[in-house]
Amino acid sequence: MTIFRGTFLDTPEDPFTGGTLRADVDAGLLVEDGVIRERAPYAELRRRHPAEEVVDLTGGVVLPGFVDTHVHFPQVRVIGGLGMPLLDWLERCALPEEARMADLGYATGVAADFVRGLASAGTTSALVFGAHYAPAVDALFTEAARVGVRVTSGLVVSDRLLRPELLTGPAQAYDDSIALAKRWHGVGRSRYAVIPRFALSCTDGLLASCAAVLAEVPDALATSHVNENPREIATVAELCDGRSYVETYWASGLLGPRTVLAHNVHPTDAELALLADAGSAVAHCPTSNAALGSGLFPLARHLSYGVRVALGSDVGAGTGFSLLKEGLQAYFAQQLLGPDGHPLSPAHLLHLATSAGAAALDLPDVGDLSVGQSFDAQWLRPAPGSPLDVGLAHTADGEEALARVFALGTAADVRAVWVSGEQVDLAPPRPGDLEV
Ligand code: GUN
Ligand code: ZN
Repeated sequence: MTIFRGTFLDTPEDPFTGGTLRADVDAGLLVEDGVIRERAPYAELRRRHPAEEVVDLTGGVVLPGFVDTHVHFPQVRVIGGLGMPLLDWLERCALPEEARMADLGYATGVAADFVRGLASAGTTSALVFGAHYAPAVDALFTEAARVGVRVTSGLVVSDRLLRPELLTGPAQAYDDSIALAKRWHGVGRSRYAVIPRFALSCTDGLLASCAAVLAEVPDALATSHVNENPREIATVAELCDGRSYVETYWASGLLGPRTVLAHNVHPTDAELALLADAGSAVAHCPTSNAALGSGLFPLARHLSYGVRVALGSDVGAGTGFSLLKEGLQAYFAQQLLGPDGHPLSPAHLLHLATSAGAAALDLPDVGDLSVGQSFDAQWLRPAPGSPLDVGLAHTADGEEALARVFALGTAADVRAVWVSGEQVDLAPPRPGDLEV
């Protein structure tokens, strides 16, 4: 058993429904077999367990590991393609790079960059858009398992309108997906998700084959994109006989409580009602929405319909892996919406980056640092004298400290990360680590 000593901030009660930030200064967590067994003021815990090893995380703050509900593995090397709306960005930045994933050697290197990017930003769980090529998805799962992060992912499928080398057909998509799910679903920390890229690039036949995989793989997740950009939405309406964007997924049997749809910047009321009814979650990706000019996310409307919302980085349209940056940008977006915005406190931001994501991904053992939860955590320890270090030294309470963390924190402040009590190696991989 190990005692972790530090200042712990988390949101075990949802701040959108009356919960508040839990901030325990100089507290102790007793961790056994990766699970938090006791939680108490440090001095008290030490008295109870005088002989256990102590990991000293005093200075800075300890947060639950972040849960990124929408991030693209093949796009890590094209982050920062600014100045284009969605469909132009896909054609010019994302899809040429995604075609390179046909080369397994290349994909293996990208998988290493990607998983290190996640973990280094304090992200311990993620729902990941895989690649259009099964061997590349295999490389991602292999690397995630080596490093130890919780990855839910799968084969991305499309059968129209993208460059031809990225297309497949319903039968091939089904066979390839089932084979990958057999290898990875429920193995260690990995799980499978069915991933039609978006309704624009998927016929009803392909969506039906995705639903068949979902029915075949118990507890698999489903994820896709929805209502991101007006030109995209108009094209989907033309291609899908006037059905709404959300309806195309619903009609194929892909909407349920284990479905996460990314963006939803421009939903109709009927679509929000349908998402709420299905219990599906929306991945809010604020830096991507700003970078591609997709729009300001209507959070208040989602909440008023009871649609579940969590944060996604949407790397590579999003501008980095850190959910601190996403949280800050989410806050900015709501401010910019004026009276239509939902004011976000630091506790809201932490919830969106942790416990809301855990709920969306159906990971009941992570998202906060309560007794009985897995010790998935990150220690933010800014460099001495840095603005965040100075700011943290001058705070009245946990809420203020957390506001400084979201305003000033970056991945560079993440000193150490644990999944199930095991410290994650954040160093670049050594030669030989990446054999598939
Ligand atoms: N819609 C379809 N594919 C993508 C993608 O890769 N990124 C974003 N942001 N939207 C998409
Ligand atoms: Zn995306």
